[in-house]
Amino acid sequence: MNILILNGPNLNLLGVREPEVYGYDSLDDIESWLNKQPEVEGSEIAWFQTNHEGELIDKIHSAMGNVDGIIINPGAFTHYSYALRDAIASVNIPTVEVHLSDIYAREEFRKVSVIKDVCIGHFTGLGKEGYAEAFKTLERESGK
Ligand code: DQA
Repeated sequence: MNILILNGPNLNLLGVREPEVYGYDSLDDIESWLNKQPEVEGSEIAWFQTNHEGELIDKIHSAMGNVDGIIINPGAFTHYSYALRDAIASVNIPTVEVHLSDIYAREEFRKVSVIKDVCIGHFTGLGKEGYAEAFKTLERESGK
């Protein structure tokens, strides 16, 4: 499987950013951890983080025809970026949404995901395990 993992704004600060909410692992720690999981063995996984909405959208467009699936943690864009939602809906690439924290157990504004219904799966509050669950969902979907 060829998978693109996208992480949005402020996720570059994982490990130091509100660790009581997001934990002490950095994004690099999560990447190394995922690479060691047995289910990902033999897969090509590319990670990309940006704080910029347009860069996320460009990355989704350029993935067309090149990947079997996308895993995305859009950070706060989750809650209001219709442009991101439209990008996911446009490319016809199976996409799974991941949040480290449980967005339903926090502030009201976090309870809405504008991308949820253009994704084939949604994992929230599982910490880094959410990325592994998302991978398994894409694996099942692709049949690879
Ligand atoms: C997050 C949840 C979002 O509400 C928040 O804006 C983030 C991280 C998560 O992984 O729990 O930046 O997507």
